[in-house]
Amino acid sequence: GVRIRESFAGRKAFILTAIGSAVGLGNIWRFPYITYENGGGAFLIPYLIALLTAGIPILLFDYAVGHKFRGSPPMAFKRLHPGAEVIGWFQVGICFLISIYYAAIIAWAASYTWFSLSQAWGDDAEGFFFAEYLQYDGGGAEGAGLSVDFVAQVGWPLIAVWALLLFCLAVGVRRGIATVSLIGMPVLFVMFAILVAYSLTLEGAAAGLNALFTPDWGALTDATVWIQAYGQIFFSLSVGFGIMITYASYLKRKSNATGSGLVVGFANSSFELLAAIGVFSALGFLALAANTAVDEVVSSGLGLAFVAFPTIISEAPASALVGVLFFGSLTLAGFTSQISILEVVISAVKDKTGWSRGLTVAVVGGSSAIISIVLIGGVSGVTILDTVDAFSNNIGIVGGAFVAVLLVAWVFRKMDVLAAGLNAYGSFRVGTVWKALIGIVLPIVLAVLLYMDISDKIAEGYGGFDTWVVATFGWGSLALVTVLAVVLTLSPWNARSAMHMEDPE
Ligand code: PHE
Ligand code: NA
Repeated sequence: GVRIRESFAGRKAFILTAIGSAVGLGNIWRFPYITYENGGGAFLIPYLIALLTAGIPILLFDYAVGHKFRGSPPMAFKRLHPGAEVIGWFQVGICFLISIYYAAIIAWAASYTWFSLSQAWGDDAEGFFFAEYLQYDGGGAEGAGLSVDFVAQVGWPLIAVWALLLFCLAVGVRRGIATVSLIGMPVLFVMFAILVAYSLTLEGAAAGLNALFTPDWGALTDATVWIQAYGQIFFSLSVGFGIMITYASYLKRKSNATGSGLVVGFANSSFELLAAIGVFSALGFLALAANTAVDEVVSSGLGLAFVAFPTIISEAPASALVGVLFFGSLTLAGFTSQISILEVVISAVKDKTGWSRGLTVAVVGGSSAIISIVLIGGVSGVTILDTVDAFSNNIGIVGGAFVAVLLVAWVFRKMDVLAAGLNAYGSFRVGTVWKALIGIVLPIVLAVLLYMDISDKIAEGYGGFDTWVVATFGWGSLALVTVLAVVLTLSPWNARSAMHMEDPE
């Protein structure tokens, strides 16, 4: 019989699922710091310009590819042009890499939601996190070898997170993926709103907000500030590496993709702004409690979430509740993003092989899970996580987006086709401006981002880790993804595969 591609039940499901992907750890622990470091209040200008000239346009580009060509990235790009399949597989490979370490952060956040009840970290949040909880051995630095010795209290929650992820994915687009966001995102918004309102009442909040927003107008003439703005927008919107292509492939034919794109873009940025307000209010409180300046307590990433925040939680009124709200938000935001990353890989393999969803989840999800648990669940996990992240997120995502826009606009010359696809049912028309942004502005911006990052990593290595570690997990993982992309492109499509599947109405 004829098989019909899965689809979202409606517009609300699509928008909330896309927001679920976009709103992630980057909004909570990356944006506040990037804003602070790059001109404070003045940073909002380059940020908004980056959103409008690159973020939304490439979000619409992804939607156009996925919606018009109705497939996972390899299938959609192959339908766009027979020579374009490899772009899709490269994006799939990057998602595979990210999925391996992103799951671990969700598992840590989930554990810390529980630890919050007793403030298990005592009065040394840093020592607790790295030494006691992760049992991190610092492997990979200064001649220390890497080890995969299993850490039970990290490994078991990680196994549980993987089991839950694969279950949701196996259930399907409508009843699994979309349902997680339809329930999870409203819960996240409410929890996070309470948290931000609470942070604003803390003593010292005003000093924190001053430190964050006091504009440094001189920053606007600094090129790196603009580069940071574009970098944040790419990462934050989950654009350019297959996620939004995959989700848009589950839209019904008569869907307003442009209108949804605007909603998703602005919702993600609003969440970021809210997070910055909450985080810096809390950091202002921390500075006051530690009797020091806000500059002294500012951090991002793992340090902010697992060192600074536990300290804040211990010092603040209603500790347990605040801890549950903060780490619960982190867990939920991460979970919906991780689902989107995995679905890219699953839908691609499913399209190519013609396997059922269940079998694909078992094979593809199962292998990601095992690699993740072995590599990141061990005593050297942080080193591997940090290195793979630095290469997949910057060079991988940006490189994949660069190749995609360059080839589609200039080699395959499909911008008119994509614009027509968006315009067929969109609430506003895209035209010359959009095509110029994708074909000219984006390749230039992406090339600059890519050049800066690659040249820096060639000159400096990464994170003080040994050369062989950076070569293996950094450059090596990118090389592996590239080789795999070529091999998968050259391998045949299943004759009965989804390449011939009927579209949903
Ligand atoms: N967009 C997400 C965020 O801002 C990050 C993300 C990265 C999501 C990779 C999916 C994949 O946190
Ligand atoms: Na985001």
